Amino acid sequence: MKRTHHCGELRVTDIGSSVNLAGWIDSVRDHGGVLFVDLRDREGITQVVFNPNTNDAISQIVHHLKPESVIVVAGEVTARENDAVNRRLATGEVEVHLNSFEMLNVSETPPFPIDDEKGDKVNEDLRLTYRYLDLRRPKNLETLKKRHRASKIIRDYLDGEGFLEIETPILFKSTPEGAREYLVPSRVNPGEFYALAQSPQQYKQMLMVAGVERYFQLARCFRDEDGRADRQPEFTQIDLEMSFIDREDIYALLEGMMKRLWNEILDVDMTTPFVRMHYPDALNNFGSDRPDRRFGMQLIDLNDLFKDSEFKVFNSVIKGGGNVKAINAKGLADITEGELRYLTDMAVSMGAKGLAFIRARQGGEWKSPILKFFSDEEKATIQERLEVEDGDIVFFMAAEWERSCSILGKVRLESAELLKKRGRLEIDPNVWDFFWVIEFPLMVYDDEEGRFVSAHHPFTAPVVEDAHLLDEDPKKVRGQHYDLVLNGMELGGGSIRIHQPDLQQKVFEEVLQLPKDVIENRFGYMVNAFRYGAPPHGGIALGLDRIVGLLTGSASIRDVIAFPKTQKGQCLMSQSPGPVTERQLRDLHIQTIVVDKK
Ligand code: AMO
Ligand code: AMP
Repeated sequence: MKRTHHCGELRVTDIGSSVNLAGWIDSVRDHGGVLFVDLRDREGITQVVFNPNTNDAISQIVHHLKPESVIVVAGEVTARENDAVNRRLATGEVEVHLNSFEMLNVSETPPFPIDDEKGDKVNEDLRLTYRYLDLRRPKNLETLKKRHRASKIIRDYLDGEGFLEIETPILFKSTPEGAREYLVPSRVNPGEFYALAQSPQQYKQMLMVAGVERYFQLARCFRDEDGRADRQPEFTQIDLEMSFIDREDIYALLEGMMKRLWNEILDVDMTTPFVRMHYPDALNNFGSDRPDRRFGMQLIDLNDLFKDSEFKVFNSVIKGGGNVKAINAKGLADITEGELRYLTDMAVSMGAKGLAFIRARQGGEWKSPILKFFSDEEKATIQERLEVEDGDIVFFMAAEWERSCSILGKVRLESAELLKKRGRLEIDPNVWDFFWVIEFPLMVYDDEEGRFVSAHHPFTAPVVEDAHLLDEDPKKVRGQHYDLVLNGMELGGGSIRIHQPDLQQKVFEEVLQLPKDVIENRFGYMVNAFRYGAPPHGGIALGLDRIVGLLTGSASIRDVIAFPKTQKGQCLMSQSPGPVTERQLRDLHIQTIVVDKK
């Protein structure tokens, strides 16, 4: 018996036809001996009516109709009685009256219900251990379909724009200046290691030198980072690179891609071009390089107000060149002691000396341990600038500009979460706030390393007008780097690259101060390649998992990856990582010692 239709397909126009359906038993309802079986496959559900009274063969086997068993049925499409029509099912106006069926495989009772709603309440570890059952839930299969469609739209779009899809190696060499890597021992080169590619960055630049001109890849990337809702140790990038272009070409290309994706998948018409925000403004106003602008609570500067203040904590920071900023967490005056401690601890862990606050109680009374230091004028200005009303709480941060911004930016996000929990902040799920963040510094000073490090990666070109500052004042040099942000999430980032060998060498040597042998070892081949006619080029990589997560309204990118890893980087289903044999280790020239982790 071969299937003729799938389970989401039959309609009133099919009434009277003989059909074969195959799939999983979703549920069985016994109506006085007549069984109503919901048969499910990837495309939907059809009700099949088993009547043991009219068919001996059926009566023999009905007790095997356990949910999740796989069967194939043959029968006739029949109209349902009026009162039995199920409007929630696409096939709800018809049912199939069984003539014969075959049990293909009996299922044991699954460890959790294969049901969209009930399944959501099941512990995630259990679902991941039985991911093949979890994926059977219609909404998970729907997510996989959407991911497939998104990939297809992207491929078609880039194909139309003249891009070639090219695979680059996953076994690459170690490039320790990026994220932490997965190392792979080489059997035939004792003591040497590959690293799994963190991104195809270097290869795609070599493809430009090779004259490919437009490359893309849905590239698997590997980074040994701690898992989070928006991070996986292996993830997929929409990675692309183009020659003979500038930043404007990248913006236009990506805006077209996002417009097409949102239009075809969500039927949303996005306005382009996207707004461009300068990094210093993003940090100054929102305390983040990827601001969530769907709610207010912007950072307000109070330097002028406090520079001669009685309150030493603030004015000493300002005198030392720092900054005092504040946010008004509207309606959060009832923050609990525990929540306040959490915010303060978070701020302190990011380098704050404390987190000062003023609560505006109902009845116009302000409460704060630091209120006694403020003059009436200062209070009035705070009230005015931060638009303080009863029920609000204002948080203050005094520190160096960058630190005060980023700490307050975190306090802003956490406050928003606390307000959401109280039902006082609602974010419209239909808002898609896309924008570019540009004008990043090319380099940032790393206190720990005592040298400049690339803000993005060392291949990013400086803004042309700033290049002469590389020697005098590297801090001031802006990079030709851009990030694409959506609703407070970094979707992607890229840059116009350095293509001149001497400039690349100078950045490695003089600005990043990498030792010569390190440069030669890690990047020698790139600098060398640039000596053979490298075209000007640039590109970008977007997180495909993050994009699909947003398109499907998923809370975590784990939900849009067929077989995701847990926070500890494990695949619970296949139980990886796992131990290996002594023999394997010997072949790989590896010895392990157990380090007591205290
Ligand atoms: P970058 O490191 O910014 O740039 O990565 C680009 C995008 O990849 C996604 N991403 C991740 N998604 C899920 N889990 C992770 N662990 C993870 N890490 C990154 C993000 C991010 O914006 N080679 C450069 C790009 C370029 O310059 O062309 C690069 O990899 O969405
Ligand atoms: P102190 O005078 O050190 O007890 O600080 C008074 C209040 O200001 C406390 O609530 C501290 O948490 C807070 N505070 C101290 N230093 C800072 C700072 N640099 N920025 C913001 N708040 C601070």
